[in-house]
Amino acid sequence: MAEGTGTDKGKTILVTGGCGFIGSNFIHYMLARYPQYRIINLDILSYCGNLDNLCEVADRPTVTFVKGDIADRETVRRILGKGVDAIVNFAAESHVDRSIEDPNLFLRTNVLGTQVLLDEAREAAVSRFVQISTDEVYGSLGASGVFTEDTPLKPNSPYAASKAAADLMVRAYIETYGIDAVITRCSNNYGRYQFPEKLIPLMISNALEDRELPVYGDGLNVRDWIYVEDHCQAIDAILHRGVKGEIYNIGGASERTNLDVVKAILHTLGKPETLIRFVKDRLGHDRRYAMDFSKLKNELGWEPNVTFEQGIQQTIAWYVEHRPWWERIKSGEYLEYYERMYGNR
Ligand code: NAD
Ligand code: TYD
Repeated sequence: MAEGTGTDKGKTILVTGGCGFIGSNFIHYMLARYPQYRIINLDILSYCGNLDNLCEVADRPTVTFVKGDIADRETVRRILGKGVDAIVNFAAESHVDRSIEDPNLFLRTNVLGTQVLLDEAREAAVSRFVQISTDEVYGSLGASGVFTEDTPLKPNSPYAASKAAADLMVRAYIETYGIDAVITRCSNNYGRYQFPEKLIPLMISNALEDRELPVYGDGLNVRDWIYVEDHCQAIDAILHRGVKGEIYNIGGASERTNLDVVKAILHTLGKPETLIRFVKDRLGHDRRYAMDFSKLKNELGWEPNVTFEQGIQQTIAWYVEHRPWWERIKSGEYLEYYERMYGNR
């Protein structure tokens, strides 16, 4: 899908899961970068979908919000009937620990929901479908090596398995029906609007509340952290210039152990390391993820701009300045989940 020029009326993009962490950052990014585009945001507002993430842009005439389920065929058909040029599918159940507690919803949303979107995209002849997937479909690395797009899929958690299944369904729709789709596989994101059940916002907000910081196992699991705006730029490049049928790895070139991340947060906030509490390890906990994103760099000219040191400072500052945003979340349903996981610490 070519970029809209300044003179045309612009494209209409259906963003699913636009009230979540990455989806909302992507909507902010797209509105700033392509003011002539129209964005339709389809989100079911699950526990982590939050309209507060978009309150600054809610009254823009170019953004429409539809509360609904990607697995609801009628809703999807009605939206696509209005004329949509591209779908960017962020909608998902996204938390590994919840998938270990209850995999059912992960299959329904991540697999069946994606399949409904694919069916309806095919029916409506949507000219581009971007499936937002994850490095977790590749499984776990040892101390060395990186994931390339050719690494076999070996998902270890129900979350990762559901994302891998969705990727395979996208592939099947490309091969069978010839739909124009691409798959992106990104490493761990961090930044503003991330729900405080994921490592970085959980640790920042717990530290600010002088709560303990629950580190799983020995804390030496490694993730390749990417600042969410860099991810949005990569999706933009792939949406407009990615080649039909291709898979693109996206990474941050910032491998850190969980303990490194937690200590950096405590250090920046001036809080003591005694807040760290080693807790029981996650079942099937992947040891290390690392991405080779040279395909995206060489073919579409993308690479991350923000170092981990810059990004984590900006992210910590955002959570310090937006305390009411996460305090509201932490006082709701999520609190029950947290207490079930870790007790009332
Ligand atoms: P998130 O959990 O913050 O947001 C998910 C959004 O999807 C929420 O707004 C939720 O309400 C919505 N949603 C859930 N079920 C829905 C349904 N049935 N219909 C419509 N909307 C629904 O997730 P995130 O971290 O922003 O992740 C977005 C996507 O990026 C996911 O597909 C995830 O697999 C992928 N991803 C995330 C990361 C990461 O580090 N967060 C890394 C790589 C890939
Ligand atoms: P998370 O943010 O859940 O992302 P993912 O599991 O998708 O990589 O977790 C990132 C890492 O942090 C992972 O190794 C698990 C670990 N972790 C903790 O040690 N404590 C926590 O409370 C959480 C949520 C995660």
